[in-house]
Amino acid sequence: MELYDAMRTTFSARDFTPEPMPDVVIARLLDHARFAPSGGNRQGWKVVVVRERATREAIAALTAPAAKRYAAQVSAGESPWNTIDPTAVDEATIAATPPPPRLVEPVLQAAVVLVVCVDLKVVASTDQDLDRVGVISGASIYPFAWNVLLAARAEGWGGTITTLAVAQEPELQALLGLPPHVAVAAVMPLGRPAKRLTRLRRRPVAEFAMLERWGGPPLAPPAGG
Ligand SMILES: Cc1cc2nc3c(=O)[nH]c(=O)nc-3n(C[C@H](O)[C@H](O)[C@H](O)COP(=O)(O)O)c2cc1C
Repeated sequence: MELYDAMRTTFSARDFTPEPMPDVVIARLLDHARFAPSGGNRQGWKVVVVRERATREAIAALTAPAAKRYAAQVSAGESPWNTIDPTAVDEATIAATPPPPRLVEPVLQAAVVLVVCVDLKVVASTDQDLDRVGVISGASIYPFAWNVLLAARAEGWGGTITTLAVAQEPELQALLGLPPHVAVAAVMPLGRPAKRLTRLRRRPVAEFAMLERWGGPPLAPPAGG
């Protein structure tokens, strides 16, 4: 598959056919994904391949609290889970908000769930002393996670990077037996997509790329774009 086609059509698959996904396929996807970059080439990724029903149900249950808050904040017109603007949504409203099925059920329906972890003992988190939420640690794991989805796309499979369950990370670590220094970066349902989306909605380049400084002139759109 042509690279630009793959980049423009790798959508978030949340509905799957019942087709199973053999270990040999997963191993092949990971074999390509492992060429992702990571800080200092430390390759701190670990992947737990989950198929057992009880484990999936436990993950779905751990997803629900964050999904409720997500939905409640969206209903209130907020950008959910951001660390800059404090939420105006109270606990009672969150408790009364049902978790959207599309955020909770893919882990139950997918052929397999990959829990993508990162060993924080080997990740250079160069923003650790800044007075804001960390973003650099993720840069050593999400290129790998995205590579898994690109490789899946190339073979007609699909999935989604999901993170809501990570709000309950200690419970996830206990569920899967992860040591404390191994963080969960993504819970990734994977399988054969029930339908293939091809038109992804994204903002044009001129809306986010600017010349020389914040607020500078927009970068000219690509020819033909
Ligand atoms: C860091 C990250 C976290 C995400 N967390 C979730 C999640 O918890 N649940 C979910 O259903 N999708 C999650 N997504 C998927 C996004 O919703 C998706 O990438 C976005 O809506 C674009 O979808 P599209 O590629 O199908 O257009 C996440 C994506 C990223 C990159």
